[in-house]
Amino acid sequence: MSNEHGNLIKSPKQLIIMVFASFFVPLIIILLLMVFVNSGQRGDNSTTTEQLIKPVAQLNFKDASAPREIQTGEQVYKAVCSSCHASGAAGAPKFGDAGAWAPRLGQGYNGLLSSVLKGKGAMPARGGASPADVSDYELGRAVVYLANSAGGKLVEPKAPAAAETAAK
Ligand code: HEC
Repeated sequence: MSNEHGNLIKSPKQLIIMVFASFFVPLIIILLLMVFVNSGQRGDNSTTTEQLIKPVAQLNFKDASAPREIQTGEQVYKAVCSSCHASGAAGAPKFGDAGAWAPRLGQGYNGLLSSVLKGKGAMPARGGASPADVSDYELGRAVVYLANSAGGKLVEPKAPAAAETAAK
């Protein structure tokens, strides 16, 4: 059979050259691409590739086993209680309204806290917060913050022992 298309490889020497070339040419191209990509990342500080491809929202995963920071009464109030107690919605005694709070303050801290823990009237138990988000201690601080805004003279509850806080 005659070789009509001609053959590039005519000698063993050419075969060896072709084998080497087919191995090294792609390798060199890959190396050049790597250098090119890297130079893009380092070159300009204002818009790096990393910035261009970063996710839109950075998720902040919480480590569930890590002891979380204990919230202050004010933080809990703003996050949970203010939806009702800032406006007096659903008949809630308003923040800073001494007249509305005066008849309630007589129960003392424990009485007020137990109303919050169990719920009272239109107020859901724990003000609707999950125990995973707001501990009893934090609820207590919110009660103090709220009551003291309206003439109460409650004392901040004592922080629970570290182990107990971590377990919550
Ligand atoms: C869904 C609305 C709502 C939310 C949220 C809410 N409350 Fe209330 N709260 C009420 C209402 C309504 C009352 C009055 C209940 C009654 O006397 O019938 C009340 C009453 C109270 C009282 C007085 C209880 C008593 O025995 O007189 C305290 C203390 C209190 N809330 C604290 C809190 C705290 C602290 C939070 C947040 C952790 C909170 N509330 C969240 C609606 C709410």
